[in-house]
Amino acid sequence: MSKIDDLKKDGLSEKQAAEHIKLYEGYLKKIEEIMKRLSKAEKEGNATYSEIRELKLEEGFCINAIKLHEMYFGNITSEKCIPREIVKIIKNDFGSYEAWEREFIACALSARGWVVLAYDWKDEKLHNYIADMHNQGGVWDTIPLLVLDMYEHAYFIDYGTDKKSYVQWFIKNIDWKAVDERADRI
Ligand SMILES: [Fe+2]
Repeated sequence: MSKIDDLKKDGLSEKQAAEHIKLYEGYLKKIEEIMKRLSKAEKEGNATYSEIRELKLEEGFCINAIKLHEMYFGNITSEKCIPREIVKIIKNDFGSYEAWEREFIACALSARGWVVLAYDWKDEKLHNYIADMHNQGGVWDTIPLLVLDMYEHAYFIDYGTDKKSYVQWFIKNIDWKAVDERADRI
């Protein structure tokens, strides 16, 4: 199944899915260019400006964009998918599934980039985090389990400014099996 088919779930058009994939593929091309340039870059650092500084910043930006998009595409499905193992941990850490969902939706409506349900090794609990950019707002030493793309490019063709309906579509189409597989590492 192609990535576009993966994305064309109920409530998301072919155009919306295709444009999103196009954007993701742009990152795949760009990281190759960055890596090539990095291999030849001057190994002289400077925190105000240096070739290696600029390339390393864009390397992190680009790699995070790729990983986050792959996790997002990988955690949606049109098949009916009942929350399983992970929900036991969600209930434990948030009080109830509904409490988690309420907070997750509030985070989605507050984020300019990403919403990530992640397991934090430090307190050994789940948290909803938001990130306004691929390389800003992520929390280290965590395992991302569920990723939602809240950039306008992810929904604007189909939903316009109606973010809430897009988030509801996402919640309805979460691939809990994929989330459970990621949680196997906990
Ligand atoms: Fe995106």
